[in-house]
Amino acid sequence: MLSLEQVKRSLEEAGQSHVLHFWPELCEEDRDSFLRELSQLDLKGLRDHCEEAAKAAASPTDILDQHLEPLPPQSIGSVRKSDQESLAAWEHEGLLQISKDRVGVLLLAGGQGTRLGVQYPKGMYNVGLPSSKTLYQIQAERIRKIQELVDVKHGSKCTVPWYIMTSEFTLAPTEKFFKDNNYFGLEPSNIMMFEQRMIPAVTFDGKVILQGKGKIAMAPDGNGGLYQALVDNMVLEDMKKRGVEYLHVYCVDNILVKMADPVFIGFCVSKGADCGAKVVEKAYPAEPVGVVCRVRGVSQVVEYSEIQPETAELRGPGGELVYSAGNICNHFFTRDFLQDVAQKFKSQLKQHVAIKKVPFVDTQGNQVKPTKPNGIKMEKFVFDVFSFSSKFVVFEVVREDEFSPLKNADGAATDSPTTARNSLLAQHCRWAVAAGAKLLDEHGNDLLPTTASVSAADKGPAQCEISPLVSYFGEGLEPLLKGKTLPTPFILSEERAKELQAP
Ligand code: UD1
Repeated sequence: MLSLEQVKRSLEEAGQSHVLHFWPELCEEDRDSFLRELSQLDLKGLRDHCEEAAKAAASPTDILDQHLEPLPPQSIGSVRKSDQESLAAWEHEGLLQISKDRVGVLLLAGGQGTRLGVQYPKGMYNVGLPSSKTLYQIQAERIRKIQELVDVKHGSKCTVPWYIMTSEFTLAPTEKFFKDNNYFGLEPSNIMMFEQRMIPAVTFDGKVILQGKGKIAMAPDGNGGLYQALVDNMVLEDMKKRGVEYLHVYCVDNILVKMADPVFIGFCVSKGADCGAKVVEKAYPAEPVGVVCRVRGVSQVVEYSEIQPETAELRGPGGELVYSAGNICNHFFTRDFLQDVAQKFKSQLKQHVAIKKVPFVDTQGNQVKPTKPNGIKMEKFVFDVFSFSSKFVVFEVVREDEFSPLKNADGAATDSPTTARNSLLAQHCRWAVAAGAKLLDEHGNDLLPTTASVSAADKGPAQCEISPLVSYFGEGLEPLLKGKTLPTPFILSEERAKELQAP
């Protein structure tokens, strides 16, 4: 820990002496924790950080639109447009890589979940499924299941390690939640949680914002903080030690995420890619998803906040959106590529400016909750490394099967707990019906296969939920469900599956 004198000097050099304005008023304990916080700051880089933030917020946004081109359709791999043989070959390849312990998954879980408005990590959210499972539990169980499928197919025991990037906001509660839930049946030594860095929020005139008299307003450095965090926490060394060559990186909020998706992994590996992105067809022009496209000839993602509405609305001759490759924050990276990024490119990552309302203390020491934006948060984005890739591929998947994010609180028309829950239930109804089950509604009436999974305006799809421990992606259900008539709500847990299997 630095001394007060050292910190004072560094703050003066950075033009940030105001940070210690309330020091004389702080009690011993608060002084101690504040000094600790300040000691951990990158004090040398503070002046640059503050000046750059203020400059970036003041300069007109770099409008990229005139340099955009859609991806050539033939460059996109696609689940819908590929034949069964290719899909099976990619899946086979992916499963093979998993069986050799070469595949890991990495969860980006350092965000603050502001839009959802809960005080705890989003992964702990329960969207109201009949089983009450949280997002973390669903993800954990999918890892267990894919390991089991691979073990059965290859006759050996594999591990898919789970790396979880958290931030100061999410680390402690996530650790506790996993521990309290016995790591959802996973081996704790195969779950590695680590923290990304935090950086100070800054006013428009380049001053660090004080959130309290002895506390700086800090925010995680964006999900592109991943690359620094990999270095800070020796994650690449851990991957190397385990022999993990391929990483599936994904964001926490997609209830349909296919953990370590063998088809996606197999597709990327077969194409010799060092970097890949999963996309879905964008649903409507203003949908808050980034688009994968080319900027000045280079493949990258243009975030939804950085594309002009006119560009997002452009349509082709058939009425389809020109920029339709919607980023679902599911990425593939080879370890070698991540190593290159860590060594050579990390410092070149673009800084994105977010203008936010940041609570602060005024010079009189009053706590203020601003009504209009007053602060700048600088963020890096995980996908900004695509431009450093030497072989980047894009893989389009079916939205209903793979993408339904939880972003907003209930009441919002899209991406809410209700829409996420309904997407999962609808998928499981489709799986049950495809496996030959007949579903009954709560009054015992037949649900037509075509309507069971449809979300009526007032009520969602039938309450049919299949545990990931029973089926990873719809496989293996026929022996359990064929010819069965099932009243809903129906939860196909592991125990229930055993009963159904019994002759
Ligand atoms: C993200 C994508 C967007 C995509 C959409 C799909 C980025 C920058 N944007 O947008 O292109 O279309 O998902 O759902 O990837 N996170 C951290 N640390 C941070 C900030 C965020 O780990 O400092 C994590 C979050 O916990 C979350 C993920 O990154 O798991 C995505 O963050 P979020 O802010 O929700 O991104 P979106 O704006 O939804």
